[in-house]
Formats: sequence, structure tokens, C-alpha cells
Amino acid sequence: MEEIRVSTTERAYDVRVGPGALGRIGDYLEGADRVAVIADERVAGIHGDRLEQALAGAGRGDTPWFLVPAGEACKTVEWFGNAQQFLLEAGCTRKSTVIAFGGGACGDLAGFASAAYMRGIDFIQCPTTILAHDSSVGGKTGINLPGGKNMTGAFHQPSAVLYDTDLLETLPPEEIRSGMAEAVKHQLISPDGHARDMLVTVDYSEMDEQTLLHYIVSGIRVKAEIVGRDEREGSVRKFLNFGHTYGHAVEAAAGYGGMTHGESVMIGMLYALILSEQLTGADRGLTDALQRFSERNGYPLRSVAGYPFEQLYGYMQKDKKASYGELHFVLLPEDGHPLMNKADREQCRKADEELRKRLGVLT
Ligand SMILES: NC(=O)c1ccc[n+]([C@@H]2O[C@H](COP(=O)([O-])OP(=O)(O)OC[C@H]3O[C@@H](n4cnc5c(N)ncnc54)[C@H](O)[C@@H]3O)[C@@H](O)[C@H]2O)c1
Ligand SMILES: [Zn+2]
Repeated sequence: MEEIRVSTTERAYDVRVGPGALGRIGDYLEGADRVAVIADERVAGIHGDRLEQALAGAGRGDTPWFLVPAGEACKTVEWFGNAQQFLLEAGCTRKSTVIAFGGGACGDLAGFASAAYMRGIDFIQCPTTILAHDSSVGGKTGINLPGGKNMTGAFHQPSAVLYDTDLLETLPPEEIRSGMAEAVKHQLISPDGHARDMLVTVDYSEMDEQTLLHYIVSGIRVKAEIVGRDEREGSVRKFLNFGHTYGHAVEAAAGYGGMTHGESVMIGMLYALILSEQLTGADRGLTDALQRFSERNGYPLRSVAGYPFEQLYGYMQKDKKASYGELHFVLLPEDGHPLMNKADREQCRKADEELRKRLGVLT
């Protein structure tokens, strides 16, 4: 079992990663007068018995469960309200602990429900997707509004993260691609990263447990280090948005759920690398390596052909990180050394055109 310590101004907490990590849940429930689980219903159906057993082993066999719709569908005002009502009816007080059991969507909802209930109670993240190595650490929680993704939320750090990698075995291929895209991102933006090695060697169809664990742990370390320095995204935390401006635009254009978050971010990272070549003289070798890696691993890169630049640019302007019509991108002039850079419309268009050319979808 690997253990990573995250230190923020709000609190310090453990992230425990490895097979069987759920079995340690009792270590984090000692002071809780009541425990309540908020779980993704699909995950509860597949793996719920493991958490139930772990809770029973910790003397918490009477824990109430609240099942929310699988994936993104739970991140609504309505389910947020339902979760508040559940916590009240479950008899939760300020001394109670919520357990989030599911992927990033369930973690975001349960985290926000915990942040708001009685103005904030403890919660433990038990992530069940590869992507959630990113979302479960760092304390960003929230839900969607009809007009925009993640528009309502709070910073609320978990009291622990228990990441049981045994649960990842049941992930479908698109969720593996999605989560691994964030793992690639972490390697790319970190000065300690080994992105080029990863891009040459990793093939999802034959990735063993050790390799997966290695990239998950390494990604969490990168995120923990950045969040420890900048909890509220005033400075370096912005680098975690690498690939996300264009990626979010593709995700929105595809209609949320049409493409997974990480699949869209992979396209966004290719775009950001091309922009880095054009604006900072970055070496094309890295972009080519990322393109070969994502083609080999089945990322639906060519789907971008369905979304004209005008449409994507419209979405990019609505990005939370855009201010007064100027777009700010995380660029990578050199492996492991990101920086923030402005780009105007014409620069954005040129990079988009070059991306389409390289993907062979220029019309
Ligand atoms: N808070 C943050 O810092 C942060 C960071 C990145 C992403 N996010 C959010 O995370 C969400 C995406 O999270 P995600 O990619 O984990 O997807 P998800 O939570 O939407 O889950 C994807 C699908 O996988 C299923 N699933 C989950 N675990 C499974 C398992 N072990 N076996 C089989 N199926 C399983 C779910 O039921 C769902 O259908 C988005 O809402 C995004 O905004 C938050
Ligand atoms: Zn992301």
C-alpha cells in the first residue's frame, strides 16, 4: 500500500492507494458519531459489498447508504438537495462523516453535500475510477447548473482518500482512457515527470497492475504537491488545467457524456502542445509522441472533425478561466515546465487548423 500525505491550509490528510485500501476505513471513522455513504448506484451494484464488509469490520454495519445516478447525472441541484435531505434523515450531525463511493462525479456531489451540510462536515473519498486519482485529491467539489459544468461548488478537503485499486478492474475501456489521460497530464506538467518514457512504453491493452499503480501514485504526488502550494488556484494550480480549455470545448460540443472527460482532454493536450510549438517554440517531438500514444490507445481524436473551430472557440470563451475575451492557456515550452500564456483568436485558429491537419481531418 502506498501512502501520500496532502498538506493544505484547511487540513492535512492521507491518501492510501493499493489493493484492499478500503479495508483501512475504520482508521478514519473513530471520532464519527454517525457515518453515511453516498454512492454511485452502478458502483454500489458492482462493488458495494466490499465497502459494506469494510464498514462492518469497523463496527459500522448500521451505516445508511444513499444511491445516486451513475456518473455525471448525479451532479445536479436536485440530487444535491436529495443528498442534504438524506443526511438529515440519517441523523448526521457536525460530528458525522460522509463516505463518497464512486468516480469523480459522485465524489464531487458527495464532497459538495458534505461541504454544505451544517456548513461543513467530514468526508472520505473512496474513488473507484482512474480519473478520480485526480478528482479525489485537492478539495474541489461541486455540481453542474443547466447553463454550465461545475458552476456551483466549494473547496472542501476530504479527511482521507482510500483508493482501492482492486475496484478498477471493472472499468470499461473508455473510462480507462479517460483516467489515464489525466495521468499523462500529470507526467507532462511535472518537472519530475517521465512523460516521454510513458508515451513510448504504455499500452492500455497490456498494462499490468504495477504499471497502473505506478502512474496513479505518481499522478497523485504531482497533484498533492501542487495543491499543497496553491490550494485555491491563485497560481501553480492553474497548471493542472493543461489541455482543459480546448478539451472542455470538445467535451461540451460533443454534449456532456458524448465523450469522456479525459478523452476530450487528450485532444486538448495535443492542441495545447501545438499552441506551445507555435507560441513558444516547443519541440514538435513531444506532440508527435503524444499523438502516436493516443492513436495506439484508441482515443477518438478524429471526432474533432464534427466540431468546427467557431463552435469550439465559442465554448472556450465561456471557460471559467477566460477573462474579458482573452483566452489563457497552459503551455509547455519544455517537458515538465508549464507556464500561462495568452492567445488571441487568430493564434487559436491557427493551432486548431494545424491540429486538424495532423489528424488528417482538415476539410
Ligand atoms: N474535483 C475535481 O478536482 C475534479 C477533477 C477532475 C474531474 N472532476 C469531475 O469528475 C467527473 C468525472 O469523473 P469520472 O471520470 O471518475 O467519471 P464518473 O464518476 O462520471 O464515472 C464514469 C462511469 O464509470 C462508472 N464507474 C465508476 N467506477 C467504476 C468501476 N470501478 N467499475 C465500473 N464502472 C465504474 C460510473 O458508474 C459511471 O458510469 C466529472 O464530473 C468532472 O467534472 C472533478
Ligand atoms: Zn480534468
